Amino acid sequence: MAPSPTWSLLLAAISLSVACCRYAAGVIPLGSTLPASNVSQTWSSPNSTFLLSFVRVNSTSFVPSIYYNGGIPVIWSPEASVDSSGSLQLLSDGNLLLVDSSGATVWETGTSGKGISSALLDDTGNLILSNGSGDAIWSSFNHPIDTIVPSQNLSVGQILRRGSYSFTMLSSGNLTLTWNNSIVYWNQGLNSSFGNLSSPILGLQSIGVIYISQPNNIFAYSNDYAEGSNVLRFLRLDDDGNLRMYSSALGSGVETSQWEAVLEQCRVFGYCGNYGICSYNDSGPVCGCPSQNFEPVDPSNSRTGCKRKVDIASCPGSTTMLILDHALFLTYPPELSSQVFFAGMSGCRLNCLVGGSCVASSSLSDGTGLCYLKTSNFVSGYENPTLPSTSYIKVCGPVVPNPPPLQDALNGKNRGLRAWIVVLVVLGSLLGLILVESGLWCWCLRNSTRFGGLANQYALLEYASGAPVQFTYKDLQRATKGFKEKLGEGGFGTVYRGILANRQIVAVKQLEGIEQGEKQFRMEVATISSTHHLNLVRLIGFCSEGKHRLLVYEFMKNGSLDNFLFPNEELPGKFLNWEQRFNIALGTARGITYLHEECRDCIVHCDIKPENILLDENNNAKVSDFGLAKLINQKDHRYRTLTSVRGTRGYLAPEWLANLPVTSKSDVYSYGMVLLEIISGKRNFEVSAQTNHLKFSLWAYEELEKGNIEAIMDKRLAEEGYDEEEMSRAIQVSFWCIQEQPSHRPSMGKVVQMLDGIAEIRRPPAPNATIEGSVVGRSSINTSGTASTLSTLPVSAPPPSSSSSVEAVGRKNSERAGFSIYGSNSKSSM
Ligand SMILES: *[C@@H]1O[C@H](CO)[C@@H](O)[C@H](O)[C@H]1NC(C)=O
Ligand SMILES: *[C@@H]1O[C@H](CO)[C@@H](O)[C@H](O)[C@H]1NC(C)=O
Ligand SMILES: *[C@@H]1O[C@H](CO)[C@@H](O)[C@H](O)[C@H]1NC(C)=O
Ligand SMILES: *[C@@H]1O[C@H](CO)[C@@H](O)[C@H](O)[C@H]1NC(C)=O
Ligand SMILES: *[C@@H]1O[C@H](CO)[C@@H](O)[C@H](O)[C@H]1NC(C)=O
Ligand SMILES: *[C@@H]1O[C@H](CO)[C@@H](O)[C@H](O)[C@H]1NC(C)=O
Ligand SMILES: *[C@@H]1O[C@H](CO)[C@@H](O)[C@H](O)[C@H]1NC(C)=O
Ligand SMILES: *[C@@H]1O[C@H](CO)[C@@H](O)[C@H](O)[C@H]1NC(C)=O
Ligand SMILES: *[C@@H]1O[C@H](CO)[C@@H](O)[C@H](O)[C@H]1NC(C)=O
Ligand SMILES: *[C@@H]1O[C@H](CO)[C@@H](O)[C@H](O)[C@H]1NC(C)=O
Repeated sequence: MAPSPTWSLLLAAISLSVACCRYAAGVIPLGSTLPASNVSQTWSSPNSTFLLSFVRVNSTSFVPSIYYNGGIPVIWSPEASVDSSGSLQLLSDGNLLLVDSSGATVWETGTSGKGISSALLDDTGNLILSNGSGDAIWSSFNHPIDTIVPSQNLSVGQILRRGSYSFTMLSSGNLTLTWNNSIVYWNQGLNSSFGNLSSPILGLQSIGVIYISQPNNIFAYSNDYAEGSNVLRFLRLDDDGNLRMYSSALGSGVETSQWEAVLEQCRVFGYCGNYGICSYNDSGPVCGCPSQNFEPVDPSNSRTGCKRKVDIASCPGSTTMLILDHALFLTYPPELSSQVFFAGMSGCRLNCLVGGSCVASSSLSDGTGLCYLKTSNFVSGYENPTLPSTSYIKVCGPVVPNPPPLQDALNGKNRGLRAWIVVLVVLGSLLGLILVESGLWCWCLRNSTRFGGLANQYALLEYASGAPVQFTYKDLQRATKGFKEKLGEGGFGTVYRGILANRQIVAVKQLEGIEQGEKQFRMEVATISSTHHLNLVRLIGFCSEGKHRLLVYEFMKNGSLDNFLFPNEELPGKFLNWEQRFNIALGTARGITYLHEECRDCIVHCDIKPENILLDENNNAKVSDFGLAKLINQKDHRYRTLTSVRGTRGYLAPEWLANLPVTSKSDVYSYGMVLLEIISGKRNFEVSAQTNHLKFSLWAYEELEKGNIEAIMDKRLAEEGYDEEEMSRAIQVSFWCIQEQPSHRPSMGKVVQMLDGIAEIRRPPAPNATIEGSVVGRSSINTSGTASTLSTLPVSAPPPSSSSSVEAVGRKNSERAGFSIYGSNSKSSM
């Protein structure tokens, strides 16, 4: 074997320990003393994997520590320190003491008189004091500080602590991170399939897996799962309040973080202290104060938080609300129950302004309409351009905002000088202006007691927040690691997975073939981002640079609905039960209703299909890709230009094909097809012997006529069980939606009511039997397939044998085909 630095270090360490210890390896005889003055004197485990010795923490303090050979990590040390004349003493009565220079005991195990006969540091890093019959009376593993190593157990009631932060496991098996023993800022519950636990034990496998009691109950695992030999993996609560798993190679003295509980460091409560605002620069989290109405508590340590320069109590009647865009005051249980209200933005600000105990508030603009009113004496802020939230803090007198970050351009010497001159001139003239103006103010407001005018100024600012973030192309290139991880391909471009600077996971859509100008693109982005609804995917930001047009959306963990409904062999989809499916159907309907009826500019989606319905980790439906097909002007059909007319065959309403006006009712048609697929687990245009060589949707109606509902629905649902009432409502609604005549279809709002059981549902007529002199007959819908067949619309029915092969080709190219056909079609007709 080649001699590696690790091995030579190890050998050096072994020879060192052999030289210093006269006793059997690992055993520490009663009466031993370890002086703080000599940090190279150690107590060692049998094979020297772990050592116990004093470690110098600063110029005057020493702490006895158990550490992995190489010095890092320290896995245990008592929470006490001594100066260089202190010592660690194992007395003959079995007590282990830390004694300072005056001879006073600063820490002890309290094991005197318990029959301790030996002490041992074993090869797992456990320091054990045992009695004559070999029972461990005291062990360092049972008195954890902030670290857990493999073979160490953490049971209910044991706590890891670091500063104000603690980590515990509840008797339910939930793991929690808590600030000041009160605020739970992270919680990881047990897999619900597991039931109740009697006395759970948390352990760490040496390969880097955290588990509870049973080996199968895994909560997290390190990135370097079982990689390398002689690597110690350990779990530590760090002083920034995050729980991390690290790896350290024996003797390397280096530790590498492999997993962390709180992905966004700024979401750790109190990370920046009281009134501190956490944000990110390129290298990580940074702490600052909300405005210059505040000053740091300790300028040399930004994490100590901020304090008001003028206390609120000393300015009654002249308090104002400082506005922080894209900022949030962290609110976790138990505050989550007492400090949350429903209020609009101005309501959220004003309620706090007039509420005596309120110090700050946050208004969420994520569609929930929630407002956090902070009444405690400790608030923790988080600011990030991607946060859909605006915050307010009560301050005395006029608001003095923070200066904007210094520009790189000011770095050069000459430029710096010139900049200084400019700054001085500007400041001078500003000062003059202020003097003149304040004179005017005083003149005007002589009789007024309060500066009521300020409020209006803020009202204007409010509209600015909730606005999408503008990213540079470079930002997004970095976030997606050069557009590496493809999530999918849609009608408008490719979607990639990315991670923003705040560790938020996003989906970045690279738009293709967008021919609009910059201005129009921005207008559409503004429209899209003005929609806030729980059932719509949120747009976080965009990039418009040269020819690049990108949109950044929130990431949906469970992907799109089609993977669940139509599983293929390579990607076995998960099964959704009826309750989940019904919720998805209802959520989707609510999202589309919002687009059609409730948001400021009516948006027709134009491409509703399972691929565009995404599911979050709780399987809540979120409609995506809306607004991209351009706003459809209800009166002016010329708007159906090349970019607006995209869609997917099979979900397109007949009026598309006939080149008739497209309205929100066209979305209703597509929704009906999706609803039918949610019920059946089959594509609506599927043709097979089982469906009598008819399109599934047409065949299904015939089965409904026969009263044969179970034939329509997904077989797995029939086995699993379902709510018959809901099922019957859903089936009938779906056939109402896919009526060929747009006017026969219900509005989306009506669909929600019918699904909810609020509105009565009449028996749906046959989807295609109602129209007289309809432009589009059954046959033309039936055969919509490749470009060549469609461009000659309307066509007569092809021979039945060819229809299935057309379907197969059409499915693959559906989006492209749909686009080019309608594009050329509508052009030629204009
Ligand atoms: C410190 O301890 C080491 C190992 O026992 C020993 O070799 C060395 O002489 C000691 N140094 C002092 C100053 O006592
Ligand atoms: C050294 O650390 C101890 C404990 O961590 C602390 O009490 C002491 O003030 C520190 N001394 C200096 C000079 O930093
Ligand atoms: C030391 O002993 C432990 C426990 O028996 C073992 O896991 C580890 O590999 C050993 N280390 C070395 C360097 O032999
Ligand atoms: C050692 O401790 C155990 C448990 O506390 C006790 O049952 C046992 O009697 C003790 N043995 C001696 C020799 O003291
Ligand atoms: C940890 O718990 C396991 C059982 O869950 C047990 O086998 C093992 O001995 C315990 N380890 C220690 C150091 O107590
Ligand atoms: C931490 O909790 C204690 C006891 O609940 C409380 O008195 C104290 O004010 C809290 N600390 C802060 C900074 O809020
Ligand atoms: C345990 O965790 C689950 C999931 O995070 C949560 O729903 C539940 O309320 C938690 N239970 C307790 C007692 O905190
Ligand atoms: C719960 O455990 C089962 C079986 O171990 C696993 O298939 C499932 O994905 C787990 N669920 C979650 C939410 O982790
Ligand atoms: C779990 O515990 C709760 C409360 O003690 C009890 O109501 C529930 O029935 C238990 N569940 C199981 C599966 O034992
Ligand atoms: C980020 O902020 C930290 C702390 O203020 C600072 O040390 C570091 O230089 C900053 N990094 C960048 C890239 O600005």
